[in-house]
Amino acid sequence: MTHRVAILISGNGSNMLALAKSMTADHPARPCVVISDNPKAKGLTNAMELGLNTATISSHFFKDNRLEFEKELMHCLKKFGTEFVCLAGFMRILTAQFVNYWNGRILNIHPSLLPKFRGLRTHTKALVAGEKYHGCTVHEVTEHLDDGPILGQARVTVLPEDTTDSLSQRVLLLEHELYPIVLRRFIEGDRRMVVL
Ligand code: GRF
Repeated sequence: MTHRVAILISGNGSNMLALAKSMTADHPARPCVVISDNPKAKGLTNAMELGLNTATISSHFFKDNRLEFEKELMHCLKKFGTEFVCLAGFMRILTAQFVNYWNGRILNIHPSLLPKFRGLRTHTKALVAGEKYHGCTVHEVTEHLDDGPILGQARVTVLPEDTTDSLSQRVLLLEHELYPIVLRRFIEGDRRMVVL
């Protein structure tokens, strides 16, 4: 039996594509829907081109009403029979109530070596801090932002000539490697940490 994974995006969806493309052959899961809170997300088009189910739940439409937004999101996830949720560049902070419902079944990728640099602008923060290493982390989602058990990390060396762009590009390539590996293991029930 294959499990059903929903992927939530807000932008380019390159991690979504890496995840979706990994879920083939003997993989224990398949993508059941790609949901964006941004109707203009490039990732939506990419998902459609791949033949995936897509849905848009516009955060703009729901404005500040997080509960109504999440009610709609939950409805959509259930409609597609979602068992696991992958946040992949999803730019909304979810309520504790929502996250707790999916506890043990929801993952996120964050572009830093957590617990360093939670939140936004992680690459700039790493450069400003003079870090020797930077990277990305896949973790279980809890009600605390960019927190939760760490399931995998991939590391790059920060080069003297690095800019925010060059560093983010190198880290993004690693994200595409790390997230599919962690997802597969997670679905198979293996919570040991992956290090790339
Ligand atoms: C990635 O760096 C991810 O870690 C961060 O947002 C970016 C999304 O990129 N949360 P993409 O939409 O997957 O291309």
